[in-house]
Amino acid sequence: MAEVVVLESETDAGILAAASIRRLISQKPDAVLGLATGSTPMSTYRALAESLRADPLDVSRVRGFALDEYVGLPAGHPESYRAVITRDAVEPLGLTPGNIRVPNGDLATLETAGSDYEAAIRAAGGVDVQILGIGRTGHVGFNEPGSSFASLTRVKTLTEKTRIDNARFFMSPDDVPIHCLTQGLGTIRRARHLILLAFGEEKAEAIAGAIEGPVTSSSPGSVIQLHPHVTVLVDEAAASRLTNLDYYRYAYANKPAWQVV
Ligand code: PGA
Repeated sequence: MAEVVVLESETDAGILAAASIRRLISQKPDAVLGLATGSTPMSTYRALAESLRADPLDVSRVRGFALDEYVGLPAGHPESYRAVITRDAVEPLGLTPGNIRVPNGDLATLETAGSDYEAAIRAAGGVDVQILGIGRTGHVGFNEPGSSFASLTRVKTLTEKTRIDNARFFMSPDDVPIHCLTQGLGTIRRARHLILLAFGEEKAEAIAGAIEGPVTSSSPGSVIQLHPHVTVLVDEAAASRLTNLDYYRYAYANKPAWQVV
């Protein structure tokens, strides 16, 4: 079962996630991070940047793989996930840009982009910790409902709901690409530790589906139920539709001191 931790705020969740990532890097200086984009991971990146400022740690050898990328945006587009990851994570954390990979959404090489990305993840020895958000559709990465649990990095078609959700980053909703490259649910399953974060009432249904719903490709986040090491960090609003909430609180309150997130 995933460890579910309900926190008072997004900030507190970010601090907990950042502490876990920091501990990993201190034990493994060339750790491989799975980097998510969007609003959700921001509190984690902010807390980690703050922690690295207050108490520096060498992160120059840390490697990173983004979860996904839009297809067909011009190189350097400010909303390409290459640009977003650079702005939100690589620069504030002081990571080495050459160590960070993002799926290549260039149309010219699209046919092999997925398998190239999988090969790069394998060559790096796999992802140590994968940071995940969840969409209102239940997607993780851009694996929309119906995605196979065995899927690897490939081109997917975004749902209209996801395109509307992401329109806030673009000049017009029509500018949101229809296609993306995303790590598959099978890729995500191979990461050694998953940290899934979700905040706000609009994520409550997707979170309930992921943690307590049936394991089904209709609820892609439910892939976490097949993984041996998952930490879910949510605020009260995102946790509001969980049936076993009392148990998660009880388990966390009684967590043995020797166990860390
Ligand atoms: P958000 O997106 O973090 O911007 O809410 C999450 C997702 O769509 O996976």
